[in-house]
Amino acid sequence: MSKTTSNSIHITKATQSKIDTVNFDDLQFGRVFTDHMFVCDFEDGQWQRPEIKPYGPMTIDPSARVFHYGQAVFEGMKAYKDNDGRVFLFRPDENFQRINKSSARMAIPEFPESYFFEGLETLLKLDSAWIKPGIGNSLYLRPFVIATEPAISASPAVTYRFMIICSPAKSYYSDAVKVIFAQKYSRSADGGVGFAKAAGNYGAQFYPTTLAQKRGYQQIIWTDANTHEYLEEAGTMNIFFRVGDKLITAPNNDRILDGVTRKSIIQLASDMGIACEVRRVSVQEIKDAAKNGELKEIFGAGTAAVVSPISAFEHDGQEYKMAMEDDSYAKIFKSRLLGIQHNEQDDTHGWRHEV
Ligand code: COI
Repeated sequence: MSKTTSNSIHITKATQSKIDTVNFDDLQFGRVFTDHMFVCDFEDGQWQRPEIKPYGPMTIDPSARVFHYGQAVFEGMKAYKDNDGRVFLFRPDENFQRINKSSARMAIPEFPESYFFEGLETLLKLDSAWIKPGIGNSLYLRPFVIATEPAISASPAVTYRFMIICSPAKSYYSDAVKVIFAQKYSRSADGGVGFAKAAGNYGAQFYPTTLAQKRGYQQIIWTDANTHEYLEEAGTMNIFFRVGDKLITAPNNDRILDGVTRKSIIQLASDMGIACEVRRVSVQEIKDAAKNGELKEIFGAGTAAVVSPISAFEHDGQEYKMAMEDDSYAKIFKSRLLGIQHNEQDDTHGWRHEV
């Protein structure tokens, strides 16, 4: 391993790349990781000198608070390469702000902006060969923070580790998904952590989602915890409904993740003259629209999922099938977003960030 120092980051390069062992045409989401990872520890009340080193297992004390109390947050973002080999991030400032919002809610210290961007950019330059050009290819980036203090008293840790790992990705869902509208379990509650990318928000969905999957549905659309009457988000993505020609999506609140893809679609809809109502959307309204033919589409939007059409939903034991038209809004938004991300279409809002 060769040791060099670039800017303030201490870099240890992998002696041999694993890239030749990877079949980029057959990637399962989040299974393969690049050659390097970014690591920065919080000790003595401050973030220490960051490091990039070969990707690999690490030693953490079994009493670290993350294992016992789930004090952990993460982000999801992607890097793209255009046909000239230039690398771009999409609205990374949004992810930076969100990880610190999530951290604040989980009593984790804020991560400095310069470390976040230098870490990302240095890592992407080192592992650039892992970003394949072409629409549909990307490098999924997973910044995260865990509480490392070896102590199991139930209080915030005094030591943390911030890391970024990178995984080459195609689409998260290869086909349209079928969903169940939640009637029993809940994802989040008022005053809770639903708006944050807190690790436990995701782990808590695994059991009800497994029950849904046994019944042939890949995801749950979570409803408000009090009444189960209003549709909120899908857990891996925010949700849009197309009723007639207009779009409807739930407003951000304590319970819903402030999705970067979601807010980009709301902006693109406005650019294209498509009405988008950001308001509470009831299960009854969507069922009525499905029955009278007004419900044209449901789709999810997220970094990993990009824009994922929903082919059917179930509620009260009844399944409602979607028409899945060729000229769907889902296709239009997906192609516009990917075009911007891959530097193939105008970036009128300045969302691309060249690395
Ligand atoms: C993302 O879209 O980046 C997420 O964090 C969703 C995750 C469940 C893969």
